[in-house]
Amino acid sequence: MVKVLVLPGSARRDSFNKKLAAVAAKLLTEAGAEVDLVDPADIRMPLFDQDLEDAEGLPAPAKVLKEKFLANDAILFVSPEYNSSITPLMKNMIDWVSRSESDDEPSLAAYRGKVAGLLSASPGALGGLRGLVHLRSILGNIGVTVTPKQFSLTGASSKFTDDGSLKDSGDVKSVKAVVEALVETATKLKG
Ligand code: FNR
Repeated sequence: MVKVLVLPGSARRDSFNKKLAAVAAKLLTEAGAEVDLVDPADIRMPLFDQDLEDAEGLPAPAKVLKEKFLANDAILFVSPEYNSSITPLMKNMIDWVSRSESDDEPSLAAYRGKVAGLLSASPGALGGLRGLVHLRSILGNIGVTVTPKQFSLTGASSKFTDDGSLKDSGDVKSVKAVVEALVETATKLKG
């Protein structure tokens, strides 16, 4: 069974990306994955600063997230788009997790052999698609295999029911295609 970490790029209470992440987490479970759905509001970490990397290693919240990356086979990133790119929260999480904690640790250890899937949601007409272009590029550059399939939920402010489900079956189908591709690729890489 593949293990998938689901990581929203917004800590906002009513975040559309957190809602989309919850929908995807359910579909991942149905696709046979073991899922760890993170709420960034629960693991608030400081803004990255090399001076904070003291002798004891990473700050506790960064350590928690890095451990989660190490423990999972795949990561489903669900990120809003801020000014045509990913959120500072998402970049901050990616940067902290990229750091080594000792000289023996290979660089980018938490990203080695990992597979990523990409989702975004925005009230706008592009659904955060431009942010995913940057996210794909960043992850590719640090050695992550990013599945070609991705989905951006447009007009997100009117797309969820009160209980957090997606209203449109076409949108559900699109999210399902992304999570199934992620599980398939992660399963193959796991051997
Ligand atoms: C935005 N938003 C936004 N939306 C978009 O589609 N393209 C963009 O470039 C931007 N830029 C942007 C910048 C900043 C600083 C903020 C705060 C917002 C709107 C954004 O998609 C909207 O606030 C979403 O609701 C954010 O995602 P969550 O928090 O709902 O998951």
